[in-house]
Amino acid sequence: MVGFDLTQEQEAVRDMAHKFAAHEIRPIAAECDREGVFPLELFRKAFDLGLMSGFLPEEYGGQGLTSLDTCLVEEELAWGCSGIATSMTANGLGLAPILIAGTGEQKRAFAAPFASKFQFASFCLTEPGAGSDAGGIATTARRDGNGYVLNGRKCFITNGAHACQYTVFASTDRSRGHRGLSAFVVPRETPGVSSGKKEDKMGQRASETSDVLFEDARIPADNLLGKEGEGFKIAMRTLDYARASVAAMAVGVSRAAYEFAADYARQRVQFGQPIAMNQAIHFLLADMAMDIEAARLLTWNAAWLAGQGRRNTKESACAKAFSADLAMRITTDAVQIFGGYGYMRDYPVEKLMRDAKLLQIYEGTSQIQRMVIARETLLR
Ligand code: CAA
Repeated sequence: MVGFDLTQEQEAVRDMAHKFAAHEIRPIAAECDREGVFPLELFRKAFDLGLMSGFLPEEYGGQGLTSLDTCLVEEELAWGCSGIATSMTANGLGLAPILIAGTGEQKRAFAAPFASKFQFASFCLTEPGAGSDAGGIATTARRDGNGYVLNGRKCFITNGAHACQYTVFASTDRSRGHRGLSAFVVPRETPGVSSGKKEDKMGQRASETSDVLFEDARIPADNLLGKEGEGFKIAMRTLDYARASVAAMAVGVSRAAYEFAADYARQRVQFGQPIAMNQAIHFLLADMAMDIEAARLLTWNAAWLAGQGRRNTKESACAKAFSADLAMRITTDAVQIFGGYGYMRDYPVEKLMRDAKLLQIYEGTSQIQRMVIARETLLR
């Protein structure tokens, strides 16, 4: 049976996220973008409303929101501002490896506190030499007595400077390549852990991104997630889950661009009539509306599968690539409909275009998603 009606609870959580986006995020989004402000007080408000911890299971203090519920929320938050949404929801990515591979004790120790306390967790996979090739990680974790000693540098880490806890992928056996990678929980206060300078990004500027460094950082063996050598698969399963959320954010950005463009087309008069009367504009807007529907359906399908505990590798890659590429196209077309005004910072669409670019890059580029889709469809 297939149905697309949302439950009353889903409608309620979506409405709440929409109101938050409209009344709290949108009014500050342009300034945060311009000045590169990380809006801490806004995040605190979001936390108080459960918008940062809803994904945690009820037994660990969260609301037990499913992956689909989370996507409903992310679409609305990103409709407000995708930079703010990225940082506001990054705990989902940082804590997912713990929920996927942690023991009950680890979930209580490392995930549950994020339901009761406003704080950030970061996902540390990418390195200067290991971006798309996530298996090429150079950070090491050397077993030493009853612990591990970490050395290495992670880059492009969302909320890296603000996090109190990192989920870190490091090699416990360099000779085994991706099969020698392991996943660890590293508290920020561990001696030898530090963060680098804030990156000066083209878009999503309200979201802070930085290096995180490990220099002889010693952690207890109890902080290993799963077994040694399981890190790469834990990372891939995390990304399968998280890519549906990025897809949902891309739908939110696309919807915002569509709405701005449609409103502008109705009121902008050229040649004696609103430009919305031109078929050239109809077709641009109709394509946007049509593709937003398609992107949302792909996203909901990928998220629904994750909620059923089923593998969604192909579906989440399809949703992420389609939606992110779409957001880039729709925001570019929105700038086109605004014409010269669209290119100016006084109008909202150039920001959306800059923000959309990152959706095609983080959590796996659009090219990597196609590689994943090809492997899942052609080679299995
Ligand atoms: N689930 C479970 N296992 C999986 C899997 C999945 N989805 N995908 C692969 N695996 C397993 C394979 O079965 C294989 O297992 P064996 O060792 O038993 O054979 C193993 O993992 C290796 O698989 P591949 O041979 O496919 O690995 P690969 O080295 O060719 O890489 C890749 C695959 C898809 C390209 C992967 O490296 C990848 O996803 N790269 C992109 C990384 C990425 O998305 N980075 C984003 C960082 S996070 C971020 O951006 C957030 C932020 O804060 C900004």
